[in-house]
Amino acid sequence: MTLSSSPFLHTRALHRSSMPSCMDPCFLALILLLLASLASSAPSGYRAVLTHVDSKGGFTKAELLRRAAHRSRLRAAHRSRLRAATTTLSGYSTTSSSSETSPRLFSGQAEYLMELAIGTPPVPFIALADTGSDLTWTQCQPCKLCFPQDTPIYDTAASSSFSPVACSSATCLPIWSRNCSSMPVCRYRYAYGDGAYYTGILGTETITFGSASTSSAHHGVAFGCGEDNGGASYNSTGTVGVGRGTLSLVAQPGVGKFSYCLTDFFNSSLRSPFLFGTLSDIIAGDADAQVQSTPLLQSPQNPSRYFVSLEGISLGDARLPIPNDTFALRADGTGGMIVDSGTIFTALEESAFRVVVSHVADVLGQPVVNASSLDSPCFPAPSGQQQLPAMPDMVLHFAGGADMRLHRDNYMYFSEDDSTFCLTIGGTTPASTSVLGNFQQQNIQMLFDITVGQMSFMPTDCSKL
Ligand SMILES: *[C@@H]1O[C@H](CO)[C@@H](O)[C@H](O)[C@H]1NC(C)=O
Ligand SMILES: *[C@@H]1O[C@H](CO)[C@@H](O)[C@H](O)[C@H]1NC(C)=O
Ligand SMILES: *[C@@H]1O[C@H](CO)[C@@H](O)[C@H](O)[C@H]1NC(C)=O
Ligand SMILES: *[C@@H]1O[C@H](CO)[C@@H](O)[C@H](O)[C@H]1NC(C)=O
Ligand SMILES: *[C@@H]1O[C@H](CO)[C@@H](O)[C@H](O)[C@H]1NC(C)=O
Repeated sequence: MTLSSSPFLHTRALHRSSMPSCMDPCFLALILLLLASLASSAPSGYRAVLTHVDSKGGFTKAELLRRAAHRSRLRAAHRSRLRAATTTLSGYSTTSSSSETSPRLFSGQAEYLMELAIGTPPVPFIALADTGSDLTWTQCQPCKLCFPQDTPIYDTAASSSFSPVACSSATCLPIWSRNCSSMPVCRYRYAYGDGAYYTGILGTETITFGSASTSSAHHGVAFGCGEDNGGASYNSTGTVGVGRGTLSLVAQPGVGKFSYCLTDFFNSSLRSPFLFGTLSDIIAGDADAQVQSTPLLQSPQNPSRYFVSLEGISLGDARLPIPNDTFALRADGTGGMIVDSGTIFTALEESAFRVVVSHVADVLGQPVVNASSLDSPCFPAPSGQQQLPAMPDMVLHFAGGADMRLHRDNYMYFSEDDSTFCLTIGGTTPASTSVLGNFQQQNIQMLFDITVGQMSFMPTDCSKL
């Protein structure tokens, strides 16, 4: 505002005093004015909403948890296959350039859907919001193979804002690092462990965020036009990539950061805000609460992922006996902790998981269950007890003194079906990457700033944001 008004006033002053000699300064001021108004009108903040993939299914609480846990297991299995594939392919790449896939770019099933629109005029699309992948793509006409979708399929020919990206373009590099001589257009291919695959071409388009009344458009966004989609739809028509890589909707110019705030997992009538760019900042509403921040770590093996450094866990006032390097990200890409939109329950490195289970058992006055199974363990409720007892907060201590306080309902759940108290935290296999899951993030605003390399968070009533 101040930028665009002051050169303007300055121009008028000059204009009145000395008309003939002002040509150059006037011109300069005009350019400044133009630049300033371009900068101030450049879209840099967008609001979108997330709905849970199962929100329209009419599922019970127990069903919602079971289904989400099942999807998370598939995703974790896919992550470990992905790691194996990356290793194999990087071995290949020195000797051969014919690798079929570019495995760093995709992950599996996700939990939340985001509604966007694409093209001019805008065509709505509903896609899985994925913090583990970068490319935003949707099914695209003419389809060689498209799975059924409720909304019309986006057609490049019907949009005035589509342009294809050339294979030789730098934008194509992250998804197609092969010889372009036989192929003018940039192509991508995602292949999944279960046989699903999604292929298409890269183009640029106008993406519209938000609902009709509050929508705003971002032009020239690189996106995937999916022409051959041999996989399930998961009630979506594609993916919104909000990973850390250069192609994601976060990295593309003018955005640089995003935040989301997940509402109560069990209340399917609630939607969760997802804010891009300048709208994403955490507004401290409650004077007592402080915004906490911790550095994001970079993993060369998994550049699209949001890694954070977890140094310890407390239950109430007691720091649990977990060595502070348990969750360290190692040079070979193993270990560490990621924050993942596609995982429901936090998964902790196995030795730390056992420590947490035994301390939760102590608090509940229960014998330690057999926690060699890595699923979230349950403890029988005393007969007649129909709700969780009072329990202390669990605190996740991140690097830089950032403490994430989890209230009882962010880490425990009362299962009415079998009258048990269940921990909504599981374990990972040894040396695997730990995951901060969605269930633990309910009613905490989470901000990811890839420009600064920082994750911030604050307890928030997400239904009011
Ligand atoms: C690309 O492929 C063409 C023919 O397939 C070949 O002649 C050319 O040398 C290749 N270029 C590179 C850089 O490998
Ligand atoms: C898609 O939605 C329907 C309800 O509309 C639900 O029954 C189905 O299980 C959902 N699919 C997935 C993969 O979530
Ligand atoms: C879900 O959220 C809405 C809006 O805040 C509220 O009115 C409703 O009571 C909630 N439902 C449940 C089951 O908590
Ligand atoms: C981890 O613990 C060791 C020994 O207890 C201590 O020297 C070190 O500073 C700690 N590191 C961090 C990051 O807290
Ligand atoms: C604990 O679980 C593991 C794997 O599920 C099983 O092999 C083992 O027998 C169980 N131990 C006890 C004491 O139940």
